[in-house]
Formats: sequence, C-alpha cells, structure tokens
Amino acid sequence: MRTDTPQTIYRKDYTAPTYLVDTVELGFDLDPARTIVANRMTMRRNPDSIRRDIELVGEDIELVAIRLNGKTLDQSGYSIDGSVLRIPDAPDTVTLEIETICVPESNTTLSGLYVSNGNFYTQCEAEGFRRITWFPDRPDVMARYMVMLRADKARFPVLLSNGNLVEEGELPGGRHYAKWEDPFKKPSYLFALVAARLVCQEEQFPLADGRTALLQVWVEEGNLDKTDYAMQSLKHSIRWDEERWGLELDLDRFMIVAVGDFNMGAMENKGLNIFNTKFVLANPRVATDIDFQGIEAVVGHEYFHNWTGNRVTCRDWFQLSLKEGLTVFRDQEFSADMIGTESGRAVTRIDQVRTLRQAQFPEDAGPMAHPVRPDSFVEINNFYTVTVYEKGAEVVRMYQTLLGRDGFRKGMDLYFARHDGQAVTCDDFRMAMADANGRDLTQFERWYSQAGTPIVQAETRYIEATRTYELRLIQTCPATPGQPEKLPFHIPVAVGLLGKDGRDLPLTIDGQQKGNTAVLELTEADQTFVFTDVPEQPTPSILRDFSAPVVLRHGYSDAELVHLFSHDSDPVNRWEAGQRLAMGRLLKLTGMAGANSGADALDLDDVFVEAMRKMLADESLDPAFREQALLLPTESMIADQLDVVNPLAIHTARQFVRADIGARLREELLDQYQANQTPGEYSPDAASTAKRALKNLALSYLCAAPDAESLALAERQFDEATNMTDRVAALSALVHARAPVAAEALQRFYDEFQGEALVVDKWFMMQATSSTTDVAAVRELMKHPAFTLRNPNRARSLVAAFCSGNPVQFHAPDGSGYAFWAEQVIALDALNPQVASRLSRAMDRWRRYSPALQEHMKKALQQVAGQAKLSNDVREVVSKALS
Ligand code: PHE
Ligand code: ZN
Repeated sequence: MRTDTPQTIYRKDYTAPTYLVDTVELGFDLDPARTIVANRMTMRRNPDSIRRDIELVGEDIELVAIRLNGKTLDQSGYSIDGSVLRIPDAPDTVTLEIETICVPESNTTLSGLYVSNGNFYTQCEAEGFRRITWFPDRPDVMARYMVMLRADKARFPVLLSNGNLVEEGELPGGRHYAKWEDPFKKPSYLFALVAARLVCQEEQFPLADGRTALLQVWVEEGNLDKTDYAMQSLKHSIRWDEERWGLELDLDRFMIVAVGDFNMGAMENKGLNIFNTKFVLANPRVATDIDFQGIEAVVGHEYFHNWTGNRVTCRDWFQLSLKEGLTVFRDQEFSADMIGTESGRAVTRIDQVRTLRQAQFPEDAGPMAHPVRPDSFVEINNFYTVTVYEKGAEVVRMYQTLLGRDGFRKGMDLYFARHDGQAVTCDDFRMAMADANGRDLTQFERWYSQAGTPIVQAETRYIEATRTYELRLIQTCPATPGQPEKLPFHIPVAVGLLGKDGRDLPLTIDGQQKGNTAVLELTEADQTFVFTDVPEQPTPSILRDFSAPVVLRHGYSDAELVHLFSHDSDPVNRWEAGQRLAMGRLLKLTGMAGANSGADALDLDDVFVEAMRKMLADESLDPAFREQALLLPTESMIADQLDVVNPLAIHTARQFVRADIGARLREELLDQYQANQTPGEYSPDAASTAKRALKNLALSYLCAAPDAESLALAERQFDEATNMTDRVAALSALVHARAPVAAEALQRFYDEFQGEALVVDKWFMMQATSSTTDVAAVRELMKHPAFTLRNPNRARSLVAAFCSGNPVQFHAPDGSGYAFWAEQVIALDALNPQVASRLSRAMDRWRRYSPALQEHMKKALQQVAGQAKLSNDVREVVSKALS
C-alpha cells in the first residue's frame, strides 16, 4: 500500500530488459509465519539493451542477503529505490543469489505467496512474483526454473510446483522436500507452488502422439466427490486442442488445484493451474447447470493458455489481450464445439453478445474505457477487463470471419511457427494472420488502438426497376477518455436478405454469387454496397452472428422485426430481432414509469406478446434458443440506452413486462413448464440443460405475476428438486416474488448447505440481488456468522452483488447505497486491493444518473478518493471516475 501519487506507465516507454535470466533455482523453506526464499539466477547482459544495470523488483519482502558471482554485496554494491533494486555496472554474465523472507499468513492480498485455509498457494500474474523474491518480474524475461520445496510433512503433505517432479524425500524434524523442474522457459508470472493437505483425482491420459500424461485435480479432502466434471473437461480440452488446432500437451503431467481464496477465476501457471474452487468443484447436489458450463469453459481456458500465453507469451502487459482475447476466443469455440449442434452453437454466441452488452459496452462508454491494447495504466490489475478479454475475443473472432476458418488456422500455424518460445505483441499476431493469408490488415490495427464501441448506421433502398438493393453503412465511434477523434475501423458486416416468405434470397454483389450470407468489409466512414438480381423488397438481416462488436442502428419497423424474429435463418439475428422488439417497449415503458412514478398506466401491446407467445410454444426450436429469445434485456442494458438513468423506472417497467408476459402467456408457460421436465438422473448435457433453462424461465415468468398456483409450483419444485439448478431456480422465484414461504425456504436451504461454501455464496447472492433487499438488510446479512470480507467469493456474493446487481436498492434516493459502497471499498482496500478495485467500478456510470443521485454518488466517490491510505488499484478507478 503506497500513499504517494501513483505513477502512470506508458506503452510507448517500453524498453528491453537490461539482463536476461537463463536459469532460476528457487529454494523455499515454507513456514506460514516466516518463509525463507533462496533464489539463484544465472543472468547475462541483453544484447538488445543499451543500459548495463541489473534491475530487479521486489515488494513486501525482507532482503537478507545478496551475492554476485559468489561475493556478498554490501549497501555500496546496489541501491533500492521504492520497489526497484539496481546493481550498477554489472559484468556480462552473473550468478546472482538472493535470500529473502516473507510472511504468507499475513498476506491478505492473495498475490504472491499466501495461506488459504492453512495451505500455501501462489498467485504471480501479473506482478506477484516480486512479492516472493527480487526478480526482473516482467513477461519478456523467460527462464528455466528449478524449485526445491521444504515444509512440515504432517501439515503440508503435498508439495507441488511447475513441470516435473524430479525428487522427493524426508528431512529431519518431521519435514520433507520435493524438487520440481520445468523443462520449458517461462516468464515469472507463470511460476506456481502449492504446499498443502490435499487429495487428488488422477488418471493417465493418452495423447495424440502416443505419449501419455498424468492428469490430476487436487482439492481438500471433503471435496473429492466434486472433481469428476473438471477432470472430464480437462480431457475434452486436451483432445479438442489436438483436433481443432493441432496443439499437443507438452508436459508429462498436468495439474489443477482448487483454492477457496482466489481473486480471479483461475490461473494458467505452467503445468500447475490454480483455480478458484468455483470453477472446479461440482456435483448435481451443489452445482447448477451454469456452474457446470463455467467449469468446462474455465478448465478449457486455462488449458488453452498453455499454447496461447505460455509457449507464446506477452512482451509486456499492454499486450495482455494477445493471450487473453485469443484464449477467450478459443474457450468460446471449445464450448460451442462441445455442444455440437447448430442451435447450441448459436446459443453460446447469444450468451457472448449478452455479456458484451451487459458489461463491455458500458465499460467502453465509461471513465475506464480503454483500447483492447491500452496505451497506459496505473495498475495493471485494473486492466483484466471485459474489454481486454471479451472485446479482445471479438477482435480475434473477426480475423476468422474475414479470413475464413482455414485462413485463420493458417494464421495460427504461422504464429506458432514464428513465435514459439517468444514474448511478443498484438502486432506480431496480426502480422501472422496477414502474412499467412496474403492480406493487408493495416487498418485492422485500429481495433487494438481505439477504444469505444463503434456505431454502424444502416440505410437501405430497394429499386424495383433495376432489381437492385442498396445497403449504405455509416460508421462512427464516440469519443473516449484521451481519444476525442476516431478513424474508421475495418468491420466485417455479415448480411443476409430475407424474402417475403422468410427465406434467404441468394446474394449477388459485383456479379459474384455470395450464397445466403455475405461478409461485407466496411472500411470507409460511409460506404454503399449494392446487391443485384433482388427479386423483391427484402428484409435485411445485418450483422449476422454478431460479426463485429458494434452497435447496429437501423430503422426497423415492428413488422420487419417480427418477420426476422419468425424466420431469420441466422439464429443470432433472429434472437436480436426479439431483443429489439423488447427494447423498444422497455424504453417506452421506462419513460412512462418515470413520468407516472408507478406501474399503473403501463400497457403492453399485442404484437409483442403474440410474437413471444409464438416463440415460446414453437417446439421445433431448441428450448435453449427459446429461453434466450424470451429473456428480456437486463436493467443494465436498458440503462445503457438512456441519457439519464432512472433505476426505479427501469425496474418498474421491466417488472411490468415480466408480470404481463407471466399473466398473458400463463397457459403456454405452464405447458412449457410441464413439457420441459427432466426426470431421471441429473446430467449437465446440453439437451437437459436447455430444458431446465426453459422450464425455469417459465417458472420465473409465472412467479413474476404471482398467483397461489404459481407459487405452489415453485414451492413444490423447491421441495422436490434433486439438483441445485432446479432448487435455486425455485428458491429465487420465491424470494423475488416475496412469497410468504420465502424466508422459511431460505433458512432450510442454508441449514442444508451451510457446509458448502459455494452454495452459501449462492444463498447470499440471491438475497443481495433481490429488489426486496435494502441496504439495511445487507448490513444485517453482513453480521451473519458465515460472512467475511476476507474471502473474495463471499465478499462478491453479498457486497459486490448488491452494488452491481440490485440497481433499485443500490440507487436508493437517500444515497444510502453509495455510502455503503464507499465504506466497503475502503474496508476491502485495506485487505485486498484487487477485490476492492473491482467493487469500486460499481460507480463507473455515475454521471448518467439524475442530478440528485449524481450528487450523492460524487460525494461517495470523493470520500473514497480522499482517503490518505489507498491502493493504486482503487485510486486509479476513483480518480478516473471523478476526472
Ligand atoms: N490469467 C488468468 C486467466 O485469464 C486470470 C488471472 C489474472 C488470474 C491475474 C489471476 C491473476 O485465465
Ligand atoms: Zn486467461
């Protein structure tokens, strides 16, 4: 924790490391109260660097001794300035030995070496390794690691690190040791160790080249009944990477370790992935379908990093999306391929679009907006964002859309051929794509350098006499902090034209047949595309499969939208038409609710309700697709469309629509509720998951207009559920409907699952996000014995869930929600700046609220900013919000 003004780091200031590290030998004497770390590095001067000082960084560690080529350095041999240790005028090759001490048990930041439930774990990305030893802790320094772990054998029977186990044995005094060697060179952020009392599920798994690998999933003893799905997902991931990309596991052993205290989802340390328990532990009793999906995706994600991130890594942290955008894209494709069906693939795509709109578009429109490759940051931990991850994945997806699947694969192959073992940049990736396909992707670079969500305005004209159809596309991009003016992007716009019968019209452009979907390349600010031989006035289906992360504007009539919603062969745009129909109504109703301050005069038209009725009952369609089609845009998405946000009006309008659908489609909802039961043994497969999703959506609509029968249905489902998906769906329907039995059901749920931390998180979250839970009730919940701010999952499940997931109560007119926010940000910051900083982002959009709310929000922001002691993490966020 520093109190001086935080420093901004700029991408343009990159300089090569002065020294390279060839080998690192680390010796750990592990003791929670006092761990001794011995670090022996062989280093040599970097020919690419003009400076000749050795530069190491360290943080929160006590320096005991430092030796250069065998000679102890005294204070005159080096200098320490802040976190930088400098050895001037060093020889060309050196062996540097450094001994330090750290205190894992009092490390509440969960960065570096820390203790969770009595066990040791590390987290080194992005800059945690410097909290373990002095080191050139930057990703462009890649070295080979040998690690010796020593610890008390009874307390820490399992000793793990990266790579291969080369030796283990006993030591005097009840201690033991294990020696690990990683055959691949890696940046320090991929280092990991675990010293713990754990058990594992393991198996030998055959690889494509005939080798076998030992796969292990390590958990605390009571959780061995929850490792099957993670193991299965790991095997699927390995197979998929071989089959889809020709990429093999390069190690003889691959380990996953689950830890209850973890800041993020999981971490791709070489051969030793460390996971938040949330993305490992599952069985039908405690995990929902969404949890199972999350595990598959995150296990895949971390595994895929082994090539995209580890074998080829980032030159500097500005390039973070090089590994994250690409790896998210890979895990998205993996999840889609695992479902296998066309409609299943579409549903995963729709989910991705929802995430972008729910989280990334707002980020791009707020004070923390930044390009996929940022130009500057104060704290890199603040840039593990939806922009770097999800928009970054969209950018990677656009290469595939522009180059085709085969062209994209060629680009990937060239990328690995050129850069295996290197630390590179987003430009290197783009050049590999360009060169492998003989394409000029110069303009495409703007996706990396310009922040903000582009807006594409579409205008159309059908000329009957010439049977031509003109599609004019005009692109603009709003100003973002530091970027007032934007240049045109290179945007792939996938387009289809629907005839009156709802079928795709074959497309011809410039005399060329384009099939049913043409990928137009919009590169100018204003560009017109002409389709010829168009037999009739078509309905345009623009941005099929969400071919670019943009906002598409087009003056669709209701009739056109209903036509698309009923017929579009592109499922994403079919869904999109429904979202547009819904959003039109929600915005109008929000305006009315704001003016009348109430739901009394609200009214929903038949066109919309009938479109929804037809969709709901169309059993030729995948239930998963119907569920997505019936889900309304979220309150946050509605807020994003408004210049002045009135959270209560939005909530009132959306609840009204939900209740009205619940009442008017009652028969159909009941039918679907019955038709989509999944009797028999629970399975998280796509077909069963889809049915449960639609069934539980039906239940939630029925309970939005609660009558005795609907509530009884929910109550019965809660009582009889044999899996967590159905159980939480029923409970949350009861809670949100303010059912008389809700309190008692919550209590029973808690009693039954109090031993399952991840389920207790759900219990807190369900209450935190219910519009019946006000600040006072949250404060009450914080007194519950199961609550603690120290555990990130728990803090998020109550405090963050309330601030970001309960807009009506958080934005209470008296400002009490904001005062609570300030208080919690400050309290959390003293423990864990990364978690505090995420929470501090809940105020990003404060300038969009009514003046009265803004006043309160500003005060709360200023209160946090005014703290003398504040982490760089939180300081960066609140000062950008206020600036
Ligand atoms: N690199 C991790 C991932 O994407 C995320 C992470 C970042 C985890 C920083 C911990 C710390 O998979
Ligand atoms: Zn990642």
